[in-house]
Amino acid sequence: MNPKPTDDNLVERARLVRERAYAPYSGLTVGAALLGRSGRVFTGCNVENAAYPLCTCAERVAVAKAVSEGEREFEAIAVVTATGAAPCGACRQILREFAGPEALLRVIIADLAGSARIFTLDQLLPESFTRDQLP
Ligand code: THU
Repeated sequence: MNPKPTDDNLVERARLVRERAYAPYSGLTVGAALLGRSGRVFTGCNVENAAYPLCTCAERVAVAKAVSEGEREFEAIAVVTATGAAPCGACRQILREFAGPEALLRVIIADLAGSARIFTLDQLLPESFTRDQLP
């Protein structure tokens, strides 16, 4: 059996998939690597569109790939941009859905110079809206 990927492995996977980003409009290329509880890693890059609001974030691509492959529980996600940009608010909410009851999903925000900041999703999206608030 393969050993569980480390945070460094995830950052490397995110760095590699970032090279496939389709971002001709913003010029901001983003890569994400999402680690499922099974140990599988699902990667994603941002995919832009001439109709700007249809641009899809890298994190969302990774979540959609994972869920469509049957994985719904996640341990960590690495997000790589040139400068270490943080995930947008919409992606934080999308990650919240699959971040566990206490939102302890580990979010590793890395840049290309080798620096990384690590948060739990709860730190990035405190007092979040979840299914618990639904009637
Ligand atoms: N983007 C992401 O991929 N993830 C984020 O969390 C923030 C923004 C992408 C969307 C768009 O293609 C570009 O970055 C500029 O917003």
